[in-house]
Formats: sequence, C-alpha cells, structure tokens
Amino acid sequence: MSILAEKNIFTLNTQNYQYVMGVGADNILHHLHWGRQVPSDDFSVYVYKEQNSNHSALDFMNFEYTPFGSTMYRECAFKCVFADGCRDTVLYYDSFVINANTLTVVLKDPHYGLTVELNYTVYSESDVITRNAVIKNTGADDIVIEKACSAEFSFPGRRNYNIYNSNGTWSGENNIRVQKLKCGTIAYESRKGISGHGNSPYFIVGQDECEDSGKIFFAVLEYSGNFKVAVNKDGFGVTRAVIGVNEFDFSYTLKSGCEFVTPNVHFGYAESLGEMSNTLNSFARKNIFPKQFADEVLPVLYNSWEATGFDIDTQGQKKLADKAKQIGAELFVVDDGWFGERKDDYAGLGDWYVDREKFPNDLTELVEYVNSLGMDFGLWLEPEMVNENSDLFRKHPDWTYHYDTRKASELRHQLVLNLTKPKVHEYVFNCFDELLSKYNIKYIKWDMNRPFSEVGAENLENEKMLWFLHVRSVYDVVDRLKGKYPHVQFEACASGGGRADWGSFRHFDQVWTSDNTDALDRIYIQKGFSLINPTKPMRAWVTDTGNASMDFKCKIAMQGALGIGCNLTKISQEDLQTIKENVKLYKKIRKTVQFGDRFRLMDLDRDELSAVQYVSEDKSESVVFTATPGTRFMHNYFNIFLKGLEKDKKYILDFGDKKVIKTGAYLMNVGVEKKYSGKFVSEIWILKRL
Ligand code: DGJ
Repeated sequence: MSILAEKNIFTLNTQNYQYVMGVGADNILHHLHWGRQVPSDDFSVYVYKEQNSNHSALDFMNFEYTPFGSTMYRECAFKCVFADGCRDTVLYYDSFVINANTLTVVLKDPHYGLTVELNYTVYSESDVITRNAVIKNTGADDIVIEKACSAEFSFPGRRNYNIYNSNGTWSGENNIRVQKLKCGTIAYESRKGISGHGNSPYFIVGQDECEDSGKIFFAVLEYSGNFKVAVNKDGFGVTRAVIGVNEFDFSYTLKSGCEFVTPNVHFGYAESLGEMSNTLNSFARKNIFPKQFADEVLPVLYNSWEATGFDIDTQGQKKLADKAKQIGAELFVVDDGWFGERKDDYAGLGDWYVDREKFPNDLTELVEYVNSLGMDFGLWLEPEMVNENSDLFRKHPDWTYHYDTRKASELRHQLVLNLTKPKVHEYVFNCFDELLSKYNIKYIKWDMNRPFSEVGAENLENEKMLWFLHVRSVYDVVDRLKGKYPHVQFEACASGGGRADWGSFRHFDQVWTSDNTDALDRIYIQKGFSLINPTKPMRAWVTDTGNASMDFKCKIAMQGALGIGCNLTKISQEDLQTIKENVKLYKKIRKTVQFGDRFRLMDLDRDELSAVQYVSEDKSESVVFTATPGTRFMHNYFNIFLKGLEKDKKYILDFGDKKVIKTGAYLMNVGVEKKYSGKFVSEIWILKRL
C-alpha cells in the first residue's frame, strides 16, 4: 500500500522510500519522517510542552504546513488577512480522504471560513511524491492571501546540509553553486515574472552527497513565474524549507466560495546525486510531459536565428531549407523577424502578420517549399510582448502593465502585455489560432525576452495578483492551443533558459536551454541542467559560435534534443558533411539519449574529461559521450567507469574504429581506458546488449 492512514499517522510509501506525518494531541499536522522505510506503527506524535519566555513549544516541532500566527516566528508556509483585519491563522486538522494514489489532508481555521487541503500524490514506481495546497474560502467575506507556499519540509537530524541551486545569468544558466547551511536562511527566488536565468525553482538538500552516494532531499516546483525557496537552519540545528510562489509583491484576494491552487511540488529522497537526477528524469517522462508527444522522440530542427538574425526572406530561407534537408533536419524553423515591421528589435512585436516585403507570396510559399522537401515547418513568436513601434501598441497603449504616472521601462525596446486582461489573452490566442489554421505549422517557439516592470494592472481589483495570473494565462493559452492543434509542438524560450523549469515541462514539449551555444560553455550549462531536469526537452544547437571543431560542437549538442543553427550556406563542405554524419548518428541514438537514464561519469573540471552516459530503460542500449577541449600536462590516459548496465550481461561496445565485448560488470568496475590528445576531442561509443 502506498498510502497508509492508521490512527493519527499518515504513511506515504514509494517503492524505496517513505514520507510520514501525523496529527498530534494539539490537533496539528506534524512532519515525522522522510527517507528510508520503517514500519508505520513505530511512529507517534510527540507534542512538546516545554517553553520559556523566548522559545515557545512551537519552536521545537516540525509541521507540514505552518501558518503565520501565534508564537510562530520562523519562515511560514502561509499568511493571510481576514476581512476583520485579523492576520493570525490557525490550521487544525479536520479530516482526510484517500482517492487512488492521492491523500488529501484537510485543515481548517476554527474561527474563519478558511480550509487548506494538502494533497499528496504518491508515484510509487517513480519514488516521487507530488504535493500542493488548495486554499478555500468557505466563509462569506474576502480573504486576502499574502503567502501560500506549495509545501513546507523538515530535514532529519541536526548536522549541516549542503544546499544546491543555480546562480546563473543570461547565457550562463544552470551555473550550480553549493553552500553549506550552518545557520540562518538561504533563499533562492525570482522577482522578474519568469523563473529566470538566475536561481531556479527547486531545492537539493544533501549530506555526504556525490554522484554515487549520500543522503539527498530534493523538490522541484512546477511553476514558471516568481518563486521562492527558503531553507533555514535554526538555532537548535534543525533545517527546514518552504517552496512556492514568491510572497514578494504577491497577494491574492480569495472571494467567498473560491479557491487558490498552489503549483505542484514534486519531491523525493535519493541516495546519490545520480539517483536523484534519474528519478526526476524518468518521473518527468512518465508523468509530466504533455501527452501528445510524451512518447515520441523530438525532431532534429534547423533554426536560422544565429545565422541570419532579422535578415530573412523567402529566397534566403529556401536556400537554408535546401541545406537543412541535406544535413537531415526534420523541422525547419523561422525565428524572429518574419512579421510586422520587424527589421530589427525596435519594432513589430505584437503585429503577428507576415511581412510581405520579406515574404511577398506570404509564408505559404516557404511552408509549402519546406514541406515539399519532406520537413515540417515551425515558427517563432513572442506573444507576451509589444514594441511601442507597432500597430498593436498604437491601437491599445493600455494593454501593457503600466502606471499612468510612470514612464515605462523598455528593455530590448519592448513592453510586457498584461495577459491578465481577458481581451489581451484572447488577442494572443487568436493570433496563434489564425496562424495555425492558415499555415501548416508543426512547431511553435514561444519566446519571452524581458522581465516585467511598472507592474500596474488596473483591471485587477487586487493588482498584486498579476504575477500569478500572468503565468496561468500563459499556460492557459498553450493548453488551449494544444487542445485545438494537438499536432503542434511548443517550445518554451525566454532569452535562452529563462523559462526552462518544471512548469514549462508540464505545458511545453521542449525548452530552449540557453542562448549560449558555445560548445565548451554548453558542457557546463547542460551538466547543471541535467542535475534536476529531464534530458528530453533540453534543446541543444550546433551553431557558428565558438572555436570548437564542428565534430565537437555536434557531439555536445547531441546530448540533448539536437538542433542546428549554423549558417549552412556559408560553412565549408567538410563541416556540412560532419553535421550530416552526426545527424545521421544522432537519429540512431536519440531514443536512448532522450528517454534513457543519464549518468554524469566524468567532470571536465575535476577529471579533465567530460563523460556522459545514457542507458535505455531496459538496459539493452547505451551511449557514452566523451569530450575534452584539450588535454593538459601530458595527461592523456583516462579511465572511464560506465554505469547503469546489467552486470551479468555482455555488451558489444562500438568505439567507431573498433569493437569489444565485455560484461556490464567489467565495464562498470574495471572500466574503459582511453587515450586522448589534441584539441577538441570528442567521441561517441555505442553499447548494445548481446
Ligand atoms: C531570444 C531567443 O533565446 C533566441 O533563440 C532568439 O529566438 C531570439 N530571442 C530572437 O529574438
């Protein structure tokens, strides 16, 4: 049984691990355990009584969802204001319901019409539990929510934990930083309207952790907007965390009879970083990706943005399409610049009709041409944006977030549309609807290139709701479009990886990882991405950026969902041939790459070699990517220990120039010795179980 509810104890068992909570004599839902499994009847809830003038008993206990109020001073999960001005919330246990693999624990305020339902869905086979909180106003008056986290967690013991998150920038996403939390709070957040390039909406809290061992507690938030993760270690040595929508400039008015559903948090425990990554990788594939394409490999795409920028027209794109076909691309994408007056980034956003100067015979000519070559056609839009120099802005200057008393801050000469306005939401939907019904489009790249500012939304009674409602509006447009055009794939892009998060994995089929396509930088960006995110949606392009060899660039980009962005009309025949051969090879291995388990075997900084291995779910196939920009100090020999194979089975290992047959046990314990020398060396090895 994955959910046990006996006496006052709730035990959630996944295949290997456990999460336990219980209702105490104080009528509060306490956190009891997270980690390896123990018999559920060993648990009881101890309600501390001791307190003094400075520490109330509450300081000594761990709860599942702590509201602000009473003598609770630590980072709480929930805060609201009732209509009479009371800002103190009490959440007593009321009841529970088990529905299939979901446990709902109902908490109620004893005085006010406030109910909080904590949902826990157990994905036993995946070793993942999904949590959220549903806040309900069952009274007659408004309740103003000032903070509503998705979840609160407590970590066992009193030793220091290592806390992981990214500390990135545009073009430097997924720059993982680890800090030991000895005291106080480490908080990661976004205030930009998108999840952003800086910190990411997750936590990894570990002890003695490395790729092969450790104790690791992790959680990812399914949300693409302002988020906050706060991990605190108190004076008594206890570490706790909250994760959810950022309370910064947030407020949500809950009318009588209405509810606020917090974004999902997917969490688990693992005994190595490798296990954690693979748990999340396979969980996402099985439970998160939009259904239509969840089981299909993603196509190899060609996108000319990095090659041609805004300088596009029918003839130029046709020439690129010819070359894209030659190298084996399956999807040809026209990026920015095809619409309105979009000659550069000063104009055009919002006017989603074809620029007839660039495409005199409409897009139809190009779409048909691309299709005649046997490729699908894809299109770029940045639907949440408008340039002041656009017909849309001239017609509806009030459609952006704004204050009449403030000058709007432009970034990249553009402003953010107020998608919480039903008319704007409909406009955006209709623009897509027209394009998708008119042209044979199979893929949309949904871009978003600036954070919010001057966040006035005069249409809302409570303007601070805009952050949350905007994200919902984006998801709603995509979901509606997917409903109407189920054959169309969507990619989430926000100046590179500004929206590469679990909210996007739920609604989009793929994400743009970074605008930085330098192959060497990509080794780090992709490694950081792989820690907590699934492989399949990670778009990776080969471009003209950087001085790596073309083969090296290909072999780095082939570690995700491959795309090509080179100027194919300008590169040498030799490079064209290299890309072609690699695309051909990628098509043979992409199922294992996109759907397989993934192991970070060797680290470029630590081992002077990057080695990443993918293993198919049934362990019958595996692919290893090795890469070094150049060996140093005459260190030319490398031992690479493989992972994830069946130890008793034999595998044929194809290095390209020779083949060997070895058992999984040999390959994992004795490993493979390889000599590498020279600059930008990279290899792909393919293993097949005999
Ligand atoms: C930012 C994206 O990350 C790029 O890939 C490209 O689509 C540009 N926007 C176009 O303006």
